[in-house]
Amino acid sequence: MNLHQAAELIAHRRSIKPVDMDAEKSISSETWDTLIECANWAPSHGHTEPWRFIIYRGDSRNEIAKALQDAYQAETPADEFRPEKHEKMGKNPLFSHAVAAIVMTPGDNEKIPEIEEIEAVACAVQNMHLAASAAGVGLFWSSPAACYGENFAQSLQLGSKDKCLGLLYIGYPKEGKAWPKMVRKPAADKVIWK
Ligand SMILES: Cc1cc2nc3c(=O)[nH]c(=O)nc-3n(C[C@H](O)[C@H](O)[C@H](O)COP(=O)(O)O)c2cc1C
Repeated sequence: MNLHQAAELIAHRRSIKPVDMDAEKSISSETWDTLIECANWAPSHGHTEPWRFIIYRGDSRNEIAKALQDAYQAETPADEFRPEKHEKMGKNPLFSHAVAAIVMTPGDNEKIPEIEEIEAVACAVQNMHLAASAAGVGLFWSSPAACYGENFAQSLQLGSKDKCLGLLYIGYPKEGKAWPKMVRKPAADKVIWK
């Protein structure tokens, strides 16, 4: 691989909405293994390797859909509750082939601040997302407020120091669905050279 190919893959990586995924198209165990292996190559301060993924496939997608809906219902004030959002939370997991809860489990080195553990998990997700894009598999990182709350953490049976950082919807795009295009504001505007 050369720099140009790496840059091309990075720009090619896209978020694919669950509604645009083919829930029925299975992902081979070899592809799963590679995606997970790529996530596992993320960097972490102190080698804490805090990334965890709880992956729901098949019928178990209903479990995570219900957990999310229940958490949203329990934690949303009545005047802010949006039935269409609640319904979407129930449907999205079934549109996708699999859903992974992204979990940060901190290491036992108290010198490593939590923010660095979270950063490491984000690196792991990006690794997986890049690998998925190379394989033509769609990923979508979703972070509804309910996924950060206590109710959802309990449903996932997280430890007291664990944090859910969102959901990853995973699945091949539907047949005929074009790989989305995106733009970015100029990179040069985000750098200060000294
Ligand atoms: C930490 C994180 C959380 C995200 N949460 C959401 C979300 O809740 N809803 C959403 O529509 N997109 C979410 N996204 C995905 C972004 O919308 C997406 O990355 C952005 O539109 C750029 O598209 P691209 O990934 O195809 O480049 C999230 C992305 C990140 C990194």
